[in-house]
Amino acid sequence: MLRQALLVASRSGGVRRLVETAPFTRDAVRRFIAGETIDDALHVTRELTGEGLAVTLDVLGEDVHDRAQADATVKHYVELLGRLADAGLGARAEVSLKLTAVGQALEEDLALENARRVCAAARAAGTSVTLDMEDHTTVESTLRILQELRREHPDTGAVIQAYLRRAEEYCAELAYEGSRVRLCKGAYAAPEHVAFTGKAEIDRSYVRCMRILMNGKGYPMLATHDPRLISIAGTFALVSDRAPGSYEYQMLYGIRPLEQRRLAAAGERVRVYVAYGGQWYGYFMRRLAEKPANLRFFLRSAVTR
Ligand code: FDA
Repeated sequence: MLRQALLVASRSGGVRRLVETAPFTRDAVRRFIAGETIDDALHVTRELTGEGLAVTLDVLGEDVHDRAQADATVKHYVELLGRLADAGLGARAEVSLKLTAVGQALEEDLALENARRVCAAARAAGTSVTLDMEDHTTVESTLRILQELRREHPDTGAVIQAYLRRAEEYCAELAYEGSRVRLCKGAYAAPEHVAFTGKAEIDRSYVRCMRILMNGKGYPMLATHDPRLISIAGTFALVSDRAPGSYEYQMLYGIRPLEQRRLAAAGERVRVYVAYGGQWYGYFMRRLAEKPANLRFFLRSAVTR
């Protein structure tokens, strides 16, 4: 119930204005985002890579309904990728891209062309792009764009959300040689006929999807903070004879940082998803929805100020 309410609020202009202008919001937001500028993002990337972690950088922003703004987002990614290359970070840091930030809601072809520009800049920087997966209405379009991009840029990463009833089918289609696939639970509100809604059902789907990806020929990117799923991933790696480095764990910046370092110290490849920028509202609300304790922490900072 609370999760659904927060996800609905993540799309409400009224709540957005309230949260964005509240004086206590900034500290709570800083727990999950790296800052507002490219310099902030590079600083955090240097720190994390210095500790043996890999990074995927996300420029915050989504649901763009204007061509000029979509173009500005592409230019920002191109600049970021150039700066990553100049800083010698291309080998350890890639980028994550939301297609709705580059025009998917306006026209699918516009998003494809814009994503191509980001992929070309990533290649020039010696790195790659992963296409984030957004709400269920965008899934088929995102998979079509992925397929087109992979003709020229086969290293483009996909994301599959285990809460989707069709998740296993998507994983089976994407478990081929060279295919980078991030598996996550899914962070958006979705109707019952499209997605599982109970935690146990979603977790079981995650395990089934993980089995397909770990037994397949692609490169699984297991995005979860869930200790039970991380332990099951270790078992799948043993059973399917996968060496560390032939798959990776992924976690969000600010969530279970000690576990990120524990896995890396044990020889696993771990990538941290680092979001930055001024458009943090939707991202922040999804983090609150994932864990009620975050909401309590947020509200407590309001009353103890
Ligand atoms: P779950 O939510 O069950 O949490 C398990 C445990 O992890 C919790 O008990 C808690 O300890 C910790 N935890 C989880 N979330 C927390 C939070 N917000 N604050 C504090 N602790 C928390 N989704 C999507 O729809 N499209 C996408 O493209 C992506 N991309 C993506 C990339 C990466 C690298 C990650 C890690 C996640 C995503 N997600 C995503 C988000 C994902 O779908 C999911 O909402 C979150 O990862 C939370 O799910 P968990 O698997 O961590 O399990």
